[in-house]
Amino acid sequence: MKRALPSSFYNSLTLAGGAVAAVSFGLVLFLMLLESLSAAPKPYMGVIAFVLLPAILVLGLLLALVGVIREHRRLRAGRPSEMHLPRVDMNDPRHRRAFLYVAGGLILLLLFSAFGSYQAYEHTDSDQFCGETCHKVMAPEYTAYQYSAHARVGCVKCHIGPGADWFVRSKLSGTYQVYATLFNKYPRPIPTPIENLRPAQETCEQCHWPMHFYSEKLLVNTYFLQDEHNTRWSLNLLVKIGGGNSEAGPTSGIHWHMNIANQVTYAPADSTRQVIPWVQVRRPDGSVSVYRSSDNPVSDEEVAKLPKRKMDCIDCHNRPTHIYHPPARSVDHVMALGWVDPALPSIKSLAVKALEMPYATQQGALDSIGAFIEESYRTQYPQVAATQHAAIEQAIGEVRKIYARNYFPEMQVSWRRFPDNIGHMYYPGCFRCHDGKHLSEEGKVLSRDCNTCHTILAEELSNDKLRLSLDGVEYKHPVDIGDAWKETNCSDCHSAQ
Ligand code: HEC
Ligand code: HEC
Ligand code: HEC
Ligand code: HEC
Ligand code: HEC
Ligand code: HEC
Repeated sequence: MKRALPSSFYNSLTLAGGAVAAVSFGLVLFLMLLESLSAAPKPYMGVIAFVLLPAILVLGLLLALVGVIREHRRLRAGRPSEMHLPRVDMNDPRHRRAFLYVAGGLILLLLFSAFGSYQAYEHTDSDQFCGETCHKVMAPEYTAYQYSAHARVGCVKCHIGPGADWFVRSKLSGTYQVYATLFNKYPRPIPTPIENLRPAQETCEQCHWPMHFYSEKLLVNTYFLQDEHNTRWSLNLLVKIGGGNSEAGPTSGIHWHMNIANQVTYAPADSTRQVIPWVQVRRPDGSVSVYRSSDNPVSDEEVAKLPKRKMDCIDCHNRPTHIYHPPARSVDHVMALGWVDPALPSIKSLAVKALEMPYATQQGALDSIGAFIEESYRTQYPQVAATQHAAIEQAIGEVRKIYARNYFPEMQVSWRRFPDNIGHMYYPGCFRCHDGKHLSEEGKVLSRDCNTCHTILAEELSNDKLRLSLDGVEYKHPVDIGDAWKETNCSDCHSAQ
């Protein structure tokens, strides 16, 4: 029989290696075909098609090569070829049966590996893959996401989105991320802002139509002071979220920045975009104003060197789903619901303290929280500790839940590391620009007047008289801090707690 390849290729190792390589090559082609037919891109599919399968392919080729070298040596040494192909005689019933089994087995194997890689291919698109496969790395983002308004919106909807260009980019970075995870090379915490996040027009705006913003949104917030009585303070805010569409409603309002006609561009002075010394607005009539911070004055040359960003959804909604809440807010929330009994003396301040202590691991924290709160009641309020055991245990349970959802010491993640730009109480947020200290050449100030962005409809401190007005009541800070709240940013005090 004439052989197409040198005789050293004919040995069982080389044949087996060749078969492995051929099958994985076939699967790569199969996945690429699937990909070209599918409407939605599957970013992490690249990990299988361009990393895993090719690795197996290379392994197969290496095996084949080792076989060739071994066979070559054997032939040179004058030993007979190792290759004894079985002689198949289809007339022999035993051979026929064996042939059918082997052929059937091979077909099944091929079908299953195609099916398996198809399954793997589908899996790379799921939220479990994103959130759980890289469990430790993305546990904070995945946990926060599950408790957010977007819990049913797939990770890929915001992080990848349709379109071939982003598909390729995300596939490459997806592959890199798997490498970083495998070799423990990832930063803790994962840094934000994400530089190559897909533009909001192509993600958020596919579901939230910017023209739709023309109404107002009522917030009813309840707070508890950190005193012995957990003094209750409540506030009704009508947030002016209009501004999207001049034909449907007033164009003033918060989403004014988003009004397709207006363009706000800013120059952040730090990588987290928390310090903004320079802002430019271009209005529909073509007029342009530049606001500069008197707190952080910058020269024209410095501005020219700073990166510029055109404001979009992410500049305010930078934490739409991975929200790590500040402790005061989470504790207020469960107390307002009655899940933590506000009648327990000092529970607000004890809970906030327990959450904010430095812990090394999440498990360690969960254990210490219980011990700390129990011990505090035993020493400071022995009477309460003796009679209100159930209420204290329930409070501890709630505080632990808050910890588990908002603090991830292993990844160094907590509210302090991820400023949320909506609002202004715990982070600079809107006051990055609207601090009353950004002035334009025409002498206009980006106002921080309390009724610019919301109307304070009502305010009530514990048993004090309810103050109420549809035109907005004048703000009164719940504890007396003089006029400090008028001059100082709220976050200067409230993120220091
Ligand atoms: C509603 C849109 C949305 C969804 C859904 C979403 N993300 Fe995000 N994600 C964001 C935004 C916005 C950022 C922050 C961008 C910035 O600050 O630059 C972010 C940031 C991140 C970061 C960087 C670290 C951090 O906390 O800022 C990781 C990791 C991440 N997301 C993973 C996931 C995973 C895993 C899922 C699915 C379980 C998911 N995301 C779902 C919008 C989303
Ligand atoms: C795939 C569709 C989809 C995408 C993409 C999406 N969202 Fe949403 N968004 C939703 C849904 C669904 C809700 C929940 C509505 C509800 O619960 O009533 C929501 C709710 C919200 C809310 C209200 C949250 C609250 O607490 O009430 C905000 C703000 C928001 N999205 C902003 C964003 C931003 C910013 C982006 C881009 C980073 C984005 N969304 C991307 C579908 C989407
Ligand atoms: C000079 C520091 C300071 C400034 C500035 C300040 N606060 Fe406070 N604030 C406090 C203190 C102190 C308390 C009482 C702490 C407590 O009992 O929880 C408090 C309590 C509160 C509470 C209720 C307690 C809670 O955390 O749930 C709210 C709400 C609040 N402040 C809102 C604001 C807002 C809004 C601004 C900005 C307009 C502001 N504060 C500015 C010091 C400040
Ligand atoms: C990057 C700087 C910047 C940030 C951050 C910012 N704004 Fe603005 N905002 C502007 C500029 C610039 C104007 C327009 C001033 C003008 O007309 O000259 C404006 C105007 C407004 C207006 C008035 C619109 C009108 O004409 O009716 C509202 C309301 C508003 N902003 C709310 C907010 C809120 C709420 C936040 C935080 C969630 C916020 N802004 C964050 C720069 C900013
Ligand atoms: C200037 C800051 C700012 C920008 C830019 C911005 N938003 Fe908002 N948005 C807000 C504030 C403030 C609220 C009200 C507070 C809240 O819901 O937590 C809000 C509320 C919302 C809501 C909830 C509305 C409701 O009825 O509950 C959605 C959805 C939303 N924004 C989507 C978007 C999208 C999509 C974009 C980009 C096209 C965008 N926002 C741009 C500040 C902004
Ligand atoms: C540039 C717009 C803007 C200005 C000016 C502004 N606020 Fe706000 N304020 C917001 C937004 C946006 C929120 C967040 C709504 C939310 O939580 O979704 C908010 C939230 C609040 C809250 C609730 C805080 C929380 O997180 O529980 C208080 C209290 C408050 N504002 C008081 C004030 C006071 C007092 C002033 C005047 C010194 C003021 N605001 C000026 C935009 C503004």
